[in-house]
Amino acid sequence: MQLIDGKLIADQVKSEIAEEVKQIIANGGKQPHLAVIIVGHDGGSETYVAHKVKSCEQVGFKSTKIEFEDDITENALLAEIEKLNNDADIDGFIVQLPLPKHISEQKVIEAIDYRKDVDGFHPINVGRMSIGLPCYVSATPSGIIELIKRYKIETSGKNCVVIGRSNIVGKPVSTLMIQKGIDATVTVCHSRTKNIKDVVRGADIIIAAIGSPEFVTADMVKDGATVIDVGTTRVPNATTKSGFKLTGDVKFDEVAPKCSYITPVPGGVGPMTIVSLLKNTLLAAKKEVYK
Ligand code: GUN
Repeated sequence: MQLIDGKLIADQVKSEIAEEVKQIIANGGKQPHLAVIIVGHDGGSETYVAHKVKSCEQVGFKSTKIEFEDDITENALLAEIEKLNNDADIDGFIVQLPLPKHISEQKVIEAIDYRKDVDGFHPINVGRMSIGLPCYVSATPSGIIELIKRYKIETSGKNCVVIGRSNIVGKPVSTLMIQKGIDATVTVCHSRTKNIKDVVRGADIIIAAIGSPEFVTADMVKDGATVIDVGTTRVPNATTKSGFKLTGDVKFDEVAPKCSYITPVPGGVGPMTIVSLLKNTLLAAKKEVYK
């Protein structure tokens, strides 16, 4: 069994990005600039945004954090997005999700200029990804593919079972896994799937993204399978300083011995998602996807 070290790979990719930023600046280019909008005080979101800002610093990007209280109106938020769309110094920006209930996430996503949508959530980017055109691919799916590639895990003709059909992970990662060059045979399971244990047992590669702690147990995993755990549920835990424990969708202790490769939580997919965001921001700064 080999542990997939997301932190290690993330650090490698960050060094590669930092090197490229140095080159750009040495050649008289502009420092890449990411802006992050955060609304309210969701604990998970505040942690993620802090990591995103810190990672920008590590690779030499400029970053701007824009904070609003959770009573901001939808119109005021949309106006802020419009400002960023028109700000030539900002190469890319994201609005951290989830948003308060009175704001439509879909409206917000569609208000972002797709050329600055480094989250890859805009329908134009999602659509271009699905037909294999250059675009910004969203962070988690892109991080998963990067891990699979860097560990040289065989995907061609392999059975890949994705558990979960979210717009952020399940759907896009299933789209990427069937694309030419990756060539897996993909099954997507969800809450209405019949005999889910049998379906998952047929997988050479399991991508668990349902947000249900320890859902995948040893009896669902074929010997030698690769297991990618996307779960990050904060389960209350009295023994930790924060009062919770980040828990994946896979019952790691019993599943790991059966695997050829497995990602831990934390330290697997998580660190890669931020790296994907940095990569998209660099692409945006270089105007490599859209002019
Ligand atoms: N919330 C959870 N994941 C993400 C992400 O990748 N981007 C944004 N903007 N919000 C999120």
